Amino acid sequence: MAKTRTRYVCSNCGSAQPKWMGRCPDCGEWNTLVETVVQEAAPGRPSATAVAGGGAGPQPLPDIPADGYERIPVPIGELSRVLGGGIVPGSVVLISGDPGIGKSTLLLQLCDALALPGAAQAGEGPVLYVSGEESAAQIKLRAARLGIVSRDIQVLAETHLETVSNHIQQLQPRMVVVDSVQSIYSEMIQSGAGSVTQVRDCSAHLLRLAKSQTFPLFLVGHVTKEGSIAGPRVLEHMVDTVLYLEGERFHSFRLLRSVKNRFGSTNEVGVFEMAEAGLVEVANPSEAFLAERIPNAPGSAIAVTMEGTRPILVEVQALSSATTFAQPRRTANGVDFNRLLLIAAVLTRRARVRLGDQDVFVNLVGGLQVDEPAVDLAVAVAVASSARNRPVSADLALVGEVGLSGELRSVGQLPRRLNEAAKLGFTRVLVPATAARKLEHPPAGLQVLGARTLREALEMALVGGEDRGGTQHEDAT
Ligand code: TYD
Ligand code: MG
Repeated sequence: MAKTRTRYVCSNCGSAQPKWMGRCPDCGEWNTLVETVVQEAAPGRPSATAVAGGGAGPQPLPDIPADGYERIPVPIGELSRVLGGGIVPGSVVLISGDPGIGKSTLLLQLCDALALPGAAQAGEGPVLYVSGEESAAQIKLRAARLGIVSRDIQVLAETHLETVSNHIQQLQPRMVVVDSVQSIYSEMIQSGAGSVTQVRDCSAHLLRLAKSQTFPLFLVGHVTKEGSIAGPRVLEHMVDTVLYLEGERFHSFRLLRSVKNRFGSTNEVGVFEMAEAGLVEVANPSEAFLAERIPNAPGSAIAVTMEGTRPILVEVQALSSATTFAQPRRTANGVDFNRLLLIAAVLTRRARVRLGDQDVFVNLVGGLQVDEPAVDLAVAVAVASSARNRPVSADLALVGEVGLSGELRSVGQLPRRLNEAAKLGFTRVLVPATAARKLEHPPAGLQVLGARTLREALEMALVGGEDRGGTQHEDAT
């Protein structure tokens, strides 16, 4: 029987200290050390960080065989792209997101895709779905809803690490899903399931298995209230890829983002829609986001935003209405609140759109969250359009950052944005004048308009001459 010892483990960075301290000496956070009883490691047991080397010792760089990363193709295109073009055998992917967002659904669909007889490159064994949170019957229920019946998916409802590990060694699975890593515990560690040490050591154990048996491992990780992955930060360092599944619960769109990827770019975003039978890929997000748009409605403007390397057209909706409060309210959904305050102030001071007595609401349709300044112009134009009750021309899309002097500033990746707008049938795009001048080959059939200031932009974008009723206008309806 190995000896036990008490350690104080930091819940922020995962470092272990021999005695309790008010402040973690490694990461500098206060009150993060938690008393933990651990088993003395057997001599020679490899540490979690030693797995990558495989014990080969130093060798000259050119002599190291190039790892071609034979990727396992993933039939779910949006997921495949985010992973970097398929799954690398032996890679470990941590997937995280709010409860109920669709992590288990996505992974069950992935299991099904890899269990297909055609997925020969995935290997021989079955796909193993380890569920630490839901019973096998609950997984079955979800599978029935998704129409998944494959015999090659083995479900194991188990939280005991050693048992899971034994099954993995026996089954030799082609892929393993562990849902969730916080629910797994090891009897070798005497702190509760979900504690920092448990999560770290169980993950390290599973990771070593994945590397040595070269099966891809997908771990589901819970998020804390603040939205970061629960458990030690080291978890994110240990794994190869970290994905977040995002969206709003009451909107059907889901975005799969990669924040770390050792085998691909972190710029890619996968777009899905939660439907009756699971997550459905959205191959053309712009079309989906614009589907319910009413052209020529005042307060609606189209922005071309970038999600990673992919341009997406979104509708910005704004409503201004006379306030009943001493302080007018500003509400931003999908765009940054402080950015909206800034834009409202610039509209008032530089473009004579009076908003001082108006409540202003701004909403990005489809539950999308955008934080790049390229949507500024569309937000500003939408707000002005509502305040002046003049619609934005239906064939116009807008791209540009708004500066404090009311000037329009260039944004990156303009050609891509313009192509997407042209593809979706827009015939005119309003961009900052500096960007319009630099542009060499605008897409055929697309007229690129340049405006120097927000004021100029409003003149070009809004339909109808003089304001009807100006800022005081209230809709009769
Ligand atoms: P789930 O995958 O259980 O989320 P997570 O594992 O991230 O907690 O998904 C839960 C939600 O998805 C639930 O509210 C029901 C919904 N859902 C659908 O709309 N369609 C489906 O086909 C499935 C399986 C779930
Ligand atoms: Mg789940």
